[in-house]
Amino acid sequence: MKLGVNIDHVATLRNARGGFEPDPVRAALICQKAGANSIVMHLREDRRHVTDRDLFRVQDAIRIRLNMEMSIAPDILKAATRLKPHQSTLVPEKRTERTTEGGLDLKKNPVSIERAIEILKRKKIEISLFIDPDLKQVELAKKYGADAVEFHTGDYANQKSEPGRNREWVKLRNAVLVARQLSLKAHAGHGLDFENVGALKKIRGIEELNIGYSIITRSLWAGLDDSVREMIRIIS
Ligand code: PXP
Repeated sequence: MKLGVNIDHVATLRNARGGFEPDPVRAALICQKAGANSIVMHLREDRRHVTDRDLFRVQDAIRIRLNMEMSIAPDILKAATRLKPHQSTLVPEKRTERTTEGGLDLKKNPVSIERAIEILKRKKIEISLFIDPDLKQVELAKKYGADAVEFHTGDYANQKSEPGRNREWVKLRNAVLVARQLSLKAHAGHGLDFENVGALKKIRGIEELNIGYSIITRSLWAGLDDSVREMIRIIS
């Protein structure tokens, strides 16, 4: 299984002070060195974390794949056609949400979605559609010409009980099966962490997981102790 690391929250932290640190380019290079297969960045319409410049700088710096998460708003589409990432993952976007709350509903706005896919494909960008593990949505993704689907794992990750999690796991497994039967690549992501990710290994056919928040959060715990010790050493 391949790992795409979403580094949006490095930019969130950088923006908190309005300066240059922590630099998403440095984060992307560390992920690459550690073995990540791709870097994932969501250019939001309100540019709340990653900026257009961040995407271009990261693209210039890395040799692994760049997966740009994006809505189909006209200025975002324009940015993607200039950037030409390896892959665009189309996601729904609401201004007020904290994070992408659900998958795209491919029954809504089919004309705009198909048109966006056509524009991006003309630039040779691979298309992944972020959808819920719903069989109808998988079929529509195929119909619209997507190369891949990414299943939203939020409902799976949020389950507190064993039966609930098993139920969501089965939905994911069935959706992956249908995607593979339709020759769509199957990706998954959202809310995955070091505890809940293990069971997804048992779903055959998932090619790629895209994970952000838990990895960036854990990097704090992996490095805070060292940072404090280093500062004490300097000031002592
Ligand atoms: N995949 C997609 C399409 C997303 O929108 C996100 C969140 O930006 C992720 C994966 C990563 O989710 P998380 O940060 O919860 O790991």
